[in-house]
Amino acid sequence: MTNDSAIGIHDLSFATTEFVLPHTALAEHNGADIGKYHQGIGQRSMSVPAADEDIVTMGAAAAAPLIARHGGDGIRTIIFATESSIDQAKSAGVYVHSLLGLSSATRVVELKQACYAATAGLQFAIGLVRRDPAQRVLVVASDVSKYEPDSPGEATQGAAAVAMLVGADPALVEIEEPSGVFTADVMDFWRPNYREAALVDGQESIGAYLLAVEGSWKDYTEQGGRSLDEFAAFCYHQPFTKMAYKAHRHLLNYSGHDLDEDRVARDLGLTTAYNNVVGNSYTASVYLALAALLDQADDLSGQAVGFLSYGSGSVAEAFAGRVVPGYREHLRTEAHRAAIDRRKPVDFARYRELHAYSFPADGGDHRTPAQTTGPYRLAALRGHKRIYTAR
Ligand code: CAA
Repeated sequence: MTNDSAIGIHDLSFATTEFVLPHTALAEHNGADIGKYHQGIGQRSMSVPAADEDIVTMGAAAAAPLIARHGGDGIRTIIFATESSIDQAKSAGVYVHSLLGLSSATRVVELKQACYAATAGLQFAIGLVRRDPAQRVLVVASDVSKYEPDSPGEATQGAAAVAMLVGADPALVEIEEPSGVFTADVMDFWRPNYREAALVDGQESIGAYLLAVEGSWKDYTEQGGRSLDEFAAFCYHQPFTKMAYKAHRHLLNYSGHDLDEDRVARDLGLTTAYNNVVGNSYTASVYLALAALLDQADDLSGQAVGFLSYGSGSVAEAFAGRVVPGYREHLRTEAHRAAIDRRKPVDFARYRELHAYSFPADGGDHRTPAQTTGPYRLAALRGHKRIYTAR
């Protein structure tokens, strides 16, 4: 069945890093009880980028399967969402555009508002498709989450990219019109231009997230959104997967529902499977939650899924998607599992070496150590230019 006015996610694919660090290694290093990580924050491992991986290589790896399946025709816009930007001027999306060999008749732009920006990208993409339903927009969300060694944030690092093809008559999820939005000027998490690792006030960030859940849901309701009971599941931004549980319990309480743990488990249970082994992928995380849900659920055809996208600082958006009947034929479940399973475990010392590695900032020419076996790599810095290659 086609719906002429339906616009949404036609295809979705994700990529992550070459390496992975299990939380058991972090717990062994810092003496934490492993229960703090496995149960307390709901994380089992974190993706660790190789020296020659970054937001561009992951973004291109996530997007390439979409181009392979659908071709590049009709893609006139690429929106690249990130908060781990690699250049102050040039959009990371231009490198992805080049690596994928897309048409020069394309506009490319990078968006930033912490972990929220991919949702802004999705909504802007829908606006463009609404204007010309023949067009498709490639939205790429790609991030590397990095905190100071031995800080509380270290356990909530990670890295991944999600690519979504947004278009009319989508095969996966139709995004509905009402959207609840919320902005508050808070300093819960930020990264000044001179720092590689983010600064964060952990407890304040949790409180800011919960306030944003309330604010965006209130606006969603006022915009005529669905009632809470109509949703089959909820995809939250997951800086660590237990945060989704805190947020959902808060939402149930805020909207006058009894706290029913079976309901919480039903609403969230299938959304955490990728994030709990990838770690925080910032902009990509809420759409990794969607991928995990679609890849694992029995059949969600015709059902509503809630989205709660949060970006520190802070901006949030609550909205709904309707899962399109027949979506299961278009999923990439095997490829997603392979992206997770192909990562090579590293020990703690190796992880710390990779964490300490930063791209030379002396203005000289440098080759990057060849480490990734992925389809794209950051090969060198030459004449202040990043040189990317495809395998
Ligand atoms: N067994 C089971 N559970 C245990 C445990 C054990 N042995 N030991 C501790 N726990 C539980 C604690 O009770 C706690 O659970 P509750 O919050 O439900 O009480 C949980 O494990 C974590 O313990 P702590 O609060 O003591 O952990 P911490 O202070 O070391 O750090 C953190 C937690 C603040 C989240 C920290 O990891 C951090 O700063 N992370 C980065 C910031 C972040 O992710 N904020 C999230 C909201 S902001 C956002 O979403 C944007 C973004 O992407 C950054």
